[in-house]
Amino acid sequence: MMTNMTAPIIFKSEDLPEQGKGLRFALPALGEFASGFVVRFHGKAYAYVNQCAHLAVELDWNEGDFFTAQKEHLICATHGAHYRPDNGFCVMGPCKGKSLRAIPLTEHNQEIIIDATAIINPNL
Ligand code: FES
Repeated sequence: MMTNMTAPIIFKSEDLPEQGKGLRFALPALGEFASGFVVRFHGKAYAYVNQCAHLAVELDWNEGDFFTAQKEHLICATHGAHYRPDNGFCVMGPCKGKSLRAIPLTEHNQEIIIDATAIINPNL
């Protein structure tokens, strides 16, 4: 079946600094104001739905600020849940043990290509 709800989302690799500001993107398949984000951690890019596993709020209070001050975890600005950047697992906070929803991506030829179609697949 062909659906064209979400074209691939493409960023330049050089625009995603190591353990720096994340890049946000719209996820209309999940709702009018839904967003996702991608960060780089230990050289690899990781994308997640921008929604805390505690309450349905975005993680970044300041746009693109997803890392803690120590840069080892992603943090929810609302109640401080800490997530592992490499798998979205919540290691500390009110949603400990839960996870962010990961979004598949590939990175090659200096481009990050995010496959947002995968998040509307209920099997994910
Ligand atoms: S809403 Fe994210 S920790 Fe509570």
